Amino acid sequence: MNIILLGPPGAGKGTQSHKLVDERGMVQLSTGDMLRAARNSGTEMGKQVAAVMDAGKLVTDEIVIGLIAEQLDTNPKGTSFIFDGFPRTLAQADALGELLASKGKKLTHVIEMRVDDDALVARITGRFTCGNCGAVYHDATKQPAKDNTCDSCGTEGNFKRRADDNEDSLRTRLMAYYRDTSPLIGYYYAKGLLSRVDGLGEIDQVASDLSAILAD
Ligand code: AP5
Repeated sequence: MNIILLGPPGAGKGTQSHKLVDERGMVQLSTGDMLRAARNSGTEMGKQVAAVMDAGKLVTDEIVIGLIAEQLDTNPKGTSFIFDGFPRTLAQADALGELLASKGKKLTHVIEMRVDDDALVARITGRFTCGNCGAVYHDATKQPAKDNTCDSCGTEGNFKRRADDNEDSLRTRLMAYYRDTSPLIGYYYAKGLLSRVDGLGEIDQVASDLSAILAD
């Protein structure tokens, strides 16, 4: 099974990917996480993309396609992938199709997560994540059970907030989503791969709706 979670910033792609990894042993390929890791480790590419990401603009197709190609090469043959935040342009979608075909793999589901823009602002500005394992939390809707300690890995006092999680960057990220990424909805619908979930529901409800789609 190889799936794409498609949706605007804050739709819950990362949150649901983590659940699928825990419950099904799938591998999450988040180009956002890969780019942040490159920034943090100070690579030349990381330095190149930092300002672009902070402004909420899209990094070049060439860079993100290269990151995904590397992951498809290094993970074992039978791995099931969740593509989170990739593809984001039609060129990336074409490249993903070709990369998967070259490995004898194919996409099984593309799931659009729908959330109103107003809810996205509240989600993005309240988000924080575990600096160790990447588990996702929120000031109002998902606090860790034990103060200052990650529920998933138990790390204490290592929560982070993203530089692009502010209203200005979010506006740019949303424009990029509607201009460059939303055409993928029609692209995958035409291929018979598209399903939709209401991303405004409770986290567990969204997870159960996703599971129902994956069971088909
Ligand atoms: P990326 O890291 O991919 O960010 P994004 O797409 O903007 O998505 P987010 O991670 O912000 O949101 P999410 O949908 O994962 O939401 P989450 O689950 O965290 O990309 C960052 C940047 O990298 C881009 O702007 C670009 O510069 C670059 N980039 C990355 N990929 C690229 C590509 N392919 N091409 C070019 N450039 C690329 O949830 C958000 C919050 O809401 C959390 O606090 C969570 O707890 C809460 N929440 C989640 N679900 C629910 C729910 N059901 N109810 C209530 N709260 C919820």
